[in-house]
This record gives sequence, structure tokens and C-alpha cells, in this order.
Amino acid sequence: MLAVVLGMQFGDEGKGKITDYLSENFDVVVRFNGGNNAGHTVVTSQGKFKFHLIPSGSLRSSVVILGNGMVIDPYSLIDEIENLKKANPDVQIKISKMAHVVTPIHKYLDKSEENVRGGLSIGTTAQGIGPTYEDKYARTGVRVIDLLEKSIVTEKIETIYRMKENLLADSPYREKSEREKLAADLHEAGKKLMQYMDYTENLIYRFSQEKKNILFEGAQGTMLDIDFGMYPFVTSSNTLAGALSSGSGFPFRKIQRVIGVIKAYMSKVGSGPFPTEIEGDLAVRLRDLGHEYGTTTGRPRRVGWLDLPLLNYASRLNDVDSFAITNVDTLGKLDEIKVCEKYLKDGKEVDFIPRSLEEIKTISIGYKTIRPWGNLDIENIFSSPDGQYDRLPVELRNYVELIEKNTGKPVEIISLGERRENTIHRNLDA
Ligand code: IMP
Repeated sequence: MLAVVLGMQFGDEGKGKITDYLSENFDVVVRFNGGNNAGHTVVTSQGKFKFHLIPSGSLRSSVVILGNGMVIDPYSLIDEIENLKKANPDVQIKISKMAHVVTPIHKYLDKSEENVRGGLSIGTTAQGIGPTYEDKYARTGVRVIDLLEKSIVTEKIETIYRMKENLLADSPYREKSEREKLAADLHEAGKKLMQYMDYTENLIYRFSQEKKNILFEGAQGTMLDIDFGMYPFVTSSNTLAGALSSGSGFPFRKIQRVIGVIKAYMSKVGSGPFPTEIEGDLAVRLRDLGHEYGTTTGRPRRVGWLDLPLLNYASRLNDVDSFAITNVDTLGKLDEIKVCEKYLKDGKEVDFIPRSLEEIKTISIGYKTIRPWGNLDIENIFSSPDGQYDRLPVELRNYVELIEKNTGKPVEIISLGERRENTIHRNLDA
């Protein structure tokens, strides 16, 4: 099986839990975009694991690949590899030689650029993601393979400095000695990572020829996509399923299954339009019930109601086969639930997601109100492997079926809590 798992909303849909759950059936997991702006929490009987660069499926798969589309902070990666090896000692880790390197200069630039943006500041994770992709496309970036040649790292750091001298004027990097020290440190980190470096596109191809099961894991969410998200409040890479081709070298045409992860309500960190955002006390209650604080930054997440037009759009862009829904246990505890069924402009339904920041302000939302399902009786639901879905409260089943009816796609996986075992996997062929 060749499959991809992606977020359908603004990130933090619970992909970590779903990927970990699915990874039991996969030999290889591949990440193809982003860097340590991502944060996944996986809870197993061995404890709670937080990953930023390493794919969440890594605890159970035998090969873990960090593809060329990623931007990698070598220092964080060294720490994460150490952690992963404690949990999965036999795992093989491979990093694309062509992935780009996030350096401390990029992290500094991330903050400086945010200051310059003023009112249009994005609320980035400050992990240097944007500036590293800028350098990639400016063709001044440092690639993983470059770390092995000290003279190349030094030359590239000098070039980046010259290009961004204004933004770095108050930074320690204005001193040549600091830049040289940085290049030497990066070279040292590169030597530690050398054993993992490879031409991963060739490995993935070989694994596919050997009929291994490969799971591609998208980071962020569809509405953070640089092209189709709520620009400019997006991340700096493509987050759609199709991006796996350029981000790993594997052709999307060969992918057999696209799984879209939806949170039962929505959440977002950072600025920008969020049409179904909930404000006030209810937002505080939902945020607390769902522990909605960023895994990477600890920032409180904005929360909102499920947005069906947006979900349909994301489903179409990614050509989703089925959905996994998370956090239904949290949503059910509210006194009243709403779902956005349509976008209205001047009282009339529109069938597009406005992307001009002015136009989106003119949109109003047509909500449907749903009866909540309260606390779930987890013990009863999982009392036997058969009939788990049928033992869900009828209100929750109606909610799942509303999504299915509206999108025309089945909800295959329903996550009722953060633990692996609290997951219902419906057999769609039955
Ligand atoms: P950047 O990717 O750090 O440049 O941040 C750009 C925007 O994407 C900000 O709104 C971030 O909060 C958001 N973002 C980036 N990565 C993630 C993620 O993994 N989950 C949720 N939001 C993210």
C-alpha cells in the first residue's frame, strides 16, 4: 500500500495520532515538507513522544525518511534521533542529501521579517522555516549534503549574510568571526548526521519496487498551503498531497490512498482569516477541553466550528479517498455544537472560498446547530472489536454522516481520545 496522510484544515488536526495508528501496517514512513514548525504528539504505552522533524509514524516503522522537500534544523534533528532510538532502537533513519538546512541565522531572520511585516505579520512558529525556503528558492540555501564541506558552508553563510545584511545588522552574525564559528558548528553537526544522509528518492523508488508499504506524511494543513491557503497567513511550502512528488521524488500518480485528517472542530495558530472562529467564554472552554496549545510554541490556539465548504475544498484539492476524524470526545462535551454548512455573500450562497482579505470580511456563515453527544462511554464502545461504530451515541453518528453526506467521502477512522487504542477503524468494504 502506498498512502498519504494530510491535514484538511489549518494544521494540528491530530495527524500525529492518526499516522502513528496507521503506521503499524507500513514499513516505511516519509515526510516531504516543512520542518520543526510541525509538532506531533504520540501517546503509547511507552509514554508521550513529541516530534517536530521526525515523522510521527516512526515509532513503529522500520525505515524513516526525511525527504528533500523538508527544511531541517540539524541540531534539533540530532536530539530527535537520539529520542527516537530509545523508543525504536532498530529503526533506520535516512535524510535526503538535498533537503535544506535551517541555521540559527534563519531563525533570527524569521523574527526580523515578522517585525518588518507589521500589520501583516503571520505569527510564524519562529523556527526559521520561511527564510530557509526563501534561500532555497533564491538558490543560496545550504543543503544537507553541503554540511560535509566546510568551505561550502562558509561560503553559503557569507552569501546569505550579504543578501540579508540589513535584517542581520543588529544580530551577532554581523561579526565575521561569528559567521565562521556558525559555519564550523554546522559542519560538525553535518558530520554527526553523515551516517543518515542518502539520495532518498532512490531509496523510496527501490522500496516501492520491492512492494514495501510506504506511508507519506504531510506536515501542516491544507489551508496553510503557500498557494491555496489563506495567503499570506500560510507556511512557506506546499502542503497538498501533490507536494509529495516534489518533496520526496516519488510520483503522486502511484499513490493508492489519500487519507485526510479532520479535527471535529477547528483550530489555528497564528494570524489570518478564520471564518468559523469562536470568540469569548466558549472559545476558552473549548480550548481548555481540547488542550489547544501549540506543540511547538505553546501558544493558545484559536478555535472554531467545523467548516464544511472549506473541508470540501481541501478534499478536492487533495483528491481524498477517506477521512479520519479526531477530537470528537472533546467536541461532544459542549452544550451546543454548530457546523458551517455554507458561505453567504449578500445573503446568497457562494461556492468558492474567497481569498482576498477584504472579500473574506464580507462573507457570513450559514450554520446548522447540532445536539451534543456528551461524554463517551469508552469502555462500552470498545467492549468488543465488532459493532464499535454502532455503539457510538446517535448524535455523534449523525455528525459523522453529515460530513460524509456533505463531502461524498467516507469517514474511515474515528479517534475518541489521544491513546492509540481509542480508535475506531470502520471497514469500508463491508
Ligand atoms: P511558519 O511555518 O513557522 O512560517 O508559520 C506560518 C504559519 O503556519 C503560522 O500561522 C504558524 O502558526 C502556522 N503553522 C506552521 N506549522 C504549523 C503546524 O504544524 N501546525 C499548525 N500551524 C502551523
